Amino acid sequence: MQFEILAKCGTTRARVSRMTLAHGPTMLPTFMPVATQAALKGLTSHQVESLGITLMLNNTYHLNLRPGTAILDAAGGAHEFQNWRRNLLTDSGGFQMVSLSSFSQVTEEGVLFTSPFSGEPTMLSPEESMRIQHSIGADIIMQLDDVVSSLTTGPRVEEAMWRSVRWLDRCIAAHDASGRTDRQNLFAIIQGGLDERLRSICLDEMVKRKDSIPGYAVGGLSGGEEKDIFWKIMSQCTAKLPEDRPRYSMGIGFAEDLLVCIALGIDMADCVFPTRTARFGVALTFSGPINLRLKKHSTSFTPIEETCPCPTCASQMSRAQLYHIVSHETTAAHAVTQHNIVFQARLMAGARDAIMEDRFPAYVRRFFSTYFGGPD
Ligand code: GUN
Ligand code: ZN
Repeated sequence: MQFEILAKCGTTRARVSRMTLAHGPTMLPTFMPVATQAALKGLTSHQVESLGITLMLNNTYHLNLRPGTAILDAAGGAHEFQNWRRNLLTDSGGFQMVSLSSFSQVTEEGVLFTSPFSGEPTMLSPEESMRIQHSIGADIIMQLDDVVSSLTTGPRVEEAMWRSVRWLDRCIAAHDASGRTDRQNLFAIIQGGLDERLRSICLDEMVKRKDSIPGYAVGGLSGGEEKDIFWKIMSQCTAKLPEDRPRYSMGIGFAEDLLVCIALGIDMADCVFPTRTARFGVALTFSGPINLRLKKHSTSFTPIEETCPCPTCASQMSRAQLYHIVSHETTAAHAVTQHNIVFQARLMAGARDAIMEDRFPAYVRRFFSTYFGGPD
């Protein structure tokens, strides 16, 4: 990986950088759309690329269930399998401990999942997560981490943090032995819940392994905690993470959170929110989200956002037309998904331009004043 910082904001920790991976350059800060099952719901890979996206996310747990590594190996990896020519990142499967908690059990060996299809138990160990991520062949791969909900308290949080450090070492060993370190970049994930002492230990331990780690993620946040504690932990992490490594906040997707994370020095983020909310008929705009299921849009013959270059708005598809089809035509979900992906990309491109031109604080102030107090 090549990682070059191109500009820094004078008054915040925000920075613009270029990360060059095996499938080309990606400008940071960036938002990564989530294609959990090797498909961004409703769009072809070609459509995603034509929206200007250069990095998206797949999930190891789901791709291992279907299509499985035998088919991925036969296809020559997940890029080939899903016909995606740009960069790809895979999450390790660790997070499914939280999102599918009733089907999983964690031990020192790994996470034991019960297959939702066959009921068979499958062990996802750090070595197994690396093996699957090698078959997928993503440009960035994530360590297996022991994830607890951000609302969990007590000794389990400390146990999960230390286990994540031990699992990082097992991931590093398995990845180094694979001979794929030149094409696939292993990121560590900082855990430690909402406890500053535990985060500090995790940061020290994981930064010590910097020579084997081309990038760092902050995990275990955005699970329903208060915003001020979220910011405090994120700020603590970015302050200690090495300057010369990309920093990824996992599961962050609200526009306002993205701008705060960028101000704190975050370079990458992902979330299902923009694409999921699109399927429920909510379009994101710089004047705030609009719910296309509301009657008031039935006579609104303007696009979602006049200034938006996405295929939906550029083709003059109106809010009234979307209102008319939103509950019974998948066309509406596709149209709003494309718009929301472009909205996130414009928000990030605007942030990059503002950092480059040394006016990032003004960009954030202007965003907050138009986004809140908007239409719905
Ligand atoms: N996605 C959102 N949060 C997390 C996390 O803490 N770990 C992993 N692996 N994925 C995530
Ligand atoms: Zn649009």
